[in-house]
Amino acid sequence: MIPPAFIQDLLARVDIADVVGRHVQLKKTGANLMGLCPFHAEKSPSFSVSPTKQFYHCFGCGASGDAIRFLSEHTGASFVEAVEDLAQQTGLSVPDDDVSPTDRERHAQAKERRSTLSGALAKAAGHYQRELKATPRAVAYLKGRGLTGEIASRFGMGYAADGWRTLASVFAQYDDPLLEESGLVIASETASDVSGGEAQKKRYDRFRDRIMFPIRSVQGEVIGFGGRVLDRGEPKYLNSPETPVFSKGRELYGLFEARGALRERGYALVVEGYMDVVALAQAGYGNAVATLGTACTAEHVHKLLRFTDAVVFSFDGDAAGRRAAGRALEASLPHASDTRSIKFLFLPTEHDPDSYVREHGAESFEACIAQAVPLSRQIGETAREGCDLDTAEGRSHMLANARPLWAALPEGGLKRQMLGELGALARLPAQELAALWTPAAPERTAPAGARAPAARATQAPMGTRARRISTGIATLLDRAIWLLVQHSALWSGLDGPAHATLAAQPEPYDALFSCIERTVHEHGPVAPATLLAELRSLAEGDAATHALARIAALHPPEADADLGKELSTVLMRIRLQMIEDELQRLFESGTLSPDAQLRSRQLMGQRAALKANAAAATVSGWVA
Ligand code: UTP
Ligand code: MN
Repeated sequence: MIPPAFIQDLLARVDIADVVGRHVQLKKTGANLMGLCPFHAEKSPSFSVSPTKQFYHCFGCGASGDAIRFLSEHTGASFVEAVEDLAQQTGLSVPDDDVSPTDRERHAQAKERRSTLSGALAKAAGHYQRELKATPRAVAYLKGRGLTGEIASRFGMGYAADGWRTLASVFAQYDDPLLEESGLVIASETASDVSGGEAQKKRYDRFRDRIMFPIRSVQGEVIGFGGRVLDRGEPKYLNSPETPVFSKGRELYGLFEARGALRERGYALVVEGYMDVVALAQAGYGNAVATLGTACTAEHVHKLLRFTDAVVFSFDGDAAGRRAAGRALEASLPHASDTRSIKFLFLPTEHDPDSYVREHGAESFEACIAQAVPLSRQIGETAREGCDLDTAEGRSHMLANARPLWAALPEGGLKRQMLGELGALARLPAQELAALWTPAAPERTAPAGARAPAARATQAPMGTRARRISTGIATLLDRAIWLLVQHSALWSGLDGPAHATLAAQPEPYDALFSCIERTVHEHGPVAPATLLAELRSLAEGDAATHALARIAALHPPEADADLGKELSTVLMRIRLQMIEDELQRLFESGTLSPDAQLRSRQLMGQRAALKANAAAATVSGWVA
């Protein structure tokens, strides 16, 4: 755990303008600096950095935070890595009571090893590039596939010559374990599959007689290769193995090269193959990236969404394409917030994007993109596969398929509307679907009528009204979060009803409390700065950002403050305020139905009981 005091010290020493300025071109405007937001595609600057507040904020996408947050969001570093990075820049060393010197050394060694690996890979990439220029047969192959030299060089494409030890001319020591570790060289125990038979390990080039596609990290370092046979041969593509610098489930081919185009085009095209990326770039779609022969993961989507908030997945029109679309859909659902656009493009069965643009041209491809299926419709398409919607059984089966997909969506407008969309498919009113999928929390564990948000929306006539949160309660909830941030061990001390009450709060508090829950559950108590960083990185939308800004601005606790006691008081006041708010809404809604009358009597009873408890607590010194 990094001590909070160190984080504060670090943030006081770095200048956010320098930190951001290293990645974004900033121009002084008044007291602030402005630039093009690195977190979403835009043409005019709405990204502002305040040197006085040491904070950045984007008026376009709402991204905001301090220098640590900026680094972790922009470079994909973890909180701890970002802190270490900044500390190094300022010449501080991170105090690490918990980290033994050997661990620290191992960490530093691993980092060094990674940069050595990238160095070796870059050296090989340069060699392959030179080999391509010197090999007419390889150049002819690429020309035959419609690529110009300019595109080949933009992607650093190369050629690995046909030979067992061609890299021996590039690296001083061919038996350097580094070459094996980087995946450039294969070392086999037996000599059986290689001609020429001396004993011990046989080393030979992994890539032989192949067109080489270097895979780069977001920072532009070479981290691996894909190699394609020129003619027929198996396997068609050979990829680098997983190494300390390369992980297929995390990396996207072409992302580094696509960064500018993502901003210009305003969306990303996700395709399946290396050749698709390169051919699309040739056709004017520099915004294409590819997964590396693996299914699309949530991590891929998350990474991509750092650069754009619109994604179009492109798939072949066959069964394999539909399966791949299913995986991409699953990976995207948790990220499908209301301000993002995620679509699915299905090409004719016989085509991939490369063959399609080559045969039909960019204009026709543009028309396909315009017809891509939005995520909302793709959920229905996926859920109904194999279901006969003319029967009640088939429709129920469809709903059963759809439910986990729906549940994976983040809270928000899209999730609400999906009830209507899926309800229409199932011939079930949206409200009934909501009741089916979001059973009300039992009265016992969630007092004061706290229910899951979606169920609340169905309680006409006050559906929308119920979602609005009173300032009174927001202040209390801010305070509760602040207390939990200061001392996250308090979360485990709360009882079930308290957890349920907090988790059932409207947006953005439901998400914030469940983030605290998850963090404490996974890591145990964490330092305030860590929890705050976690909340910030998971918080989506203006409401959450604003709440966190308010919370971060609250005064630090007095040295002798009893935070646990204060949290109990705040919780009691939250319950009281929830009762007051619900009563208020009931009375505002006019004449009371018998149900509403019953409810208001219940509420008044609960209020009296709570107040009596509070009075008793005051007597015993509980409430200040
Ligand atoms: P495709 O076979 O669709 O490749 O595989 P492609 O990019 O369209 O290749 P061309 O047009 O025939 O040259 C899609 C992706 O699956 C992975 C590669 O990442 C490839 O780009 N793949 C495919 C492999 O890793 N190994 C293979 O043998 C085949
Ligand atoms: Mn292809």
